[in-house]
Amino acid sequence: QQQDDYALMESVARYFQQQLRQHANSQKAIDYLKGRGLSGDIVKHWEIGYAPSEWDGVLKTFGKEHERVKQLIDLKLVNQNDRGKTYDFFRDRIMFPIRDRRGRVIGFGGRVLEGDGPKYLNSPETRIFHKGHELFGFYQAKQSQRHLDKVIIVEGYMDVVALSQFDINIATAALGTATTPEHLSMLMRATSHIVCCYDGDRAGRDAAWRALENALPALKDGVKLTFLFLPDGEDPDTMVRKVGKDAFMNLLDDALPLSRFFFESLLKEHEVGTPEGKVALKAAAQPLIDQVLGDSQKAMLQEELAKHVGEYDRFRLQQDMQQANQAS
Ligand code: GTP
Ligand code: MN
Ligand code: MN
Ligand code: MN
Ligand code: MN
Repeated sequence: QQQDDYALMESVARYFQQQLRQHANSQKAIDYLKGRGLSGDIVKHWEIGYAPSEWDGVLKTFGKEHERVKQLIDLKLVNQNDRGKTYDFFRDRIMFPIRDRRGRVIGFGGRVLEGDGPKYLNSPETRIFHKGHELFGFYQAKQSQRHLDKVIIVEGYMDVVALSQFDINIATAALGTATTPEHLSMLMRATSHIVCCYDGDRAGRDAAWRALENALPALKDGVKLTFLFLPDGEDPDTMVRKVGKDAFMNLLDDALPLSRFFFESLLKEHEVGTPEGKVALKAAAQPLIDQVLGDSQKAMLQEELAKHVGEYDRFRLQQDMQQANQAS
């Protein structure tokens, strides 16, 4: 069954690619991709396709037998409404096939060209697609280099593709979900340096902090985790187009180390000029530090925390907390 699922997904990926080349209405999709600065080679490399604006493109091509239709529904390539009517899930979208770490097509991301509907539609979870532990672009990154010096985590499909257009083939994207501990463990097995580079907006900064929190339980000694914050309104796609490959690579090298992002964020929320502030910082930081997997990483953060709060031991801390409570 599973073997067959992968084969069907592969065929559907080929079908979308073929539609981009041959469908009567695919010129607007081709123009859209060109407009975003993608070359034909890159479109081919990422196997980008087009889901035509039809209700039964996939259904007609692959659903000739009853069993197949059921499989298409299970794989969420076809929807079935309350009245039993079946129709294509992806319509009039640019299609990005998602491969798992072994190279099997397990799902798709689909972008609208313009106009209505959500900007991106991702395949829902299926028996072969588990978003929490798959990363778009990871397979391709591993294919391009035997050893990955570093890996970049970005937010979007287009960020991964645009970076590779600039010959930066080390980017991966979570699939419209937060970066999970599983994602980070998977990357830490493949590389010793991970750079988180999310969009330069509020959502991106929040995502970076969540990634940090999720990374701590997986943070082994010897792994470097850094954070690159882009200027407001930029994402890796727009940024690399503005500054080019070399400058972007330099930005990656200068990304903020985890310890600095960790304390800079917490110090923004907790004024350590007062004992109360120190107590609050300690209370916020300690549970996070306790989760850290690697002993050296943990000791490093613990030492840094001590610099900010002084040599408060647990007893002193409790006294301070009581005093602070009584005072307020
Ligand atoms: P472009 O506009 O094509 O450059 O996309 P982007 O990747 O820059 O989009 P954005 O920064 O808005 O979103 C980042 C990622 O979040 C996307 O690549 C998607 O995976 C996901 N995402 C964005 N919009 C939607 C949406 O409407 N629905 C879902 N499910 N995911 C989305
Ligand atoms: Mn899986
Ligand atoms: Mn964004
Ligand atoms: Mn973008
Ligand atoms: Mn973006």
